[in-house]
Amino acid sequence: MGYLVEDNRKVTTHRLIQMKQEGKKIAMLTSYDYTTAQIVDAAGMDIILVGDSASNVMAGNVTTLPITLDQMIYHAKAVVRATKRALVVCDMPFGTYQVNPTEGVTNAIRIMKESHCDALKLEGGIEIIDTVKKILDAGIPVCGHLGLTPQSINKFGTYTVRAREEAEAAKLVSDAHALEDAGCFAVVLEKIPAALAARVTSELRIPVIGIGAGGACDGQVLVVADMLGMSQGFSPKFLRRYADLHSIMTEAIGNYITDVKSGDFPNENEQY
Ligand code: KIV
Repeated sequence: MGYLVEDNRKVTTHRLIQMKQEGKKIAMLTSYDYTTAQIVDAAGMDIILVGDSASNVMAGNVTTLPITLDQMIYHAKAVVRATKRALVVCDMPFGTYQVNPTEGVTNAIRIMKESHCDALKLEGGIEIIDTVKKILDAGIPVCGHLGLTPQSINKFGTYTVRAREEAEAAKLVSDAHALEDAGCFAVVLEKIPAALAARVTSELRIPVIGIGAGGACDGQVLVVADMLGMSQGFSPKFLRRYADLHSIMTEAIGNYITDVKSGDFPNENEQY
């Protein structure tokens, strides 16, 4: 397990805060299924995010909005079954925590009870702070998510970099402090200027995990299908592709089709 890490103990929220204090960077990646999560965990990932990006990656939706609570629980259960070391964080999907704190905590408890994940992630700042507090009061660790928050894409109207303007940047800083003061164990900052993310990272005691937020953050998160090069047509500046699985898989599948059609597969050693 974890050929890149020396510490094979289960990652906890407490350990992540220690990592920030010790200046150790935190690696986070999404997974939505058992097979992928097994590979991601065994490689030594600190946090596995069961992101609502499953809506795009697994179901082919244009946005993250359609994914349901039941579907997120299904994905989280599969990831938890595969994971030995990483902290498993599950996204609360759109519509399950925005109505009121009581509904938010009820849905949060359902995800924790049914999926056995370790923590939840919610998008937003001051506007959802009462819900965040109520979920924390129930004993559930919460990770915040600020900047480009995809559940609000219809309000933003664009996937462009957020918080370039002073007023939005000032709100983001105060939202980050509010989430820390409420008791969140980490905050994800998505697609904001690197200098702003560096400021938030230096001001907060809790880890700041960036995606398109520059190298000063305490950790980084990417979508697994993007960094492995499985997805096509999505190439934001921040995305580093570590493999070209699209080509590798296409070639392998093409070879299988050729072998089946030519009668080469299966051969005498591949039958009973
Ligand atoms: O759903 C997701 O994959 C996310 C990451 C982009 C942070 O929230």
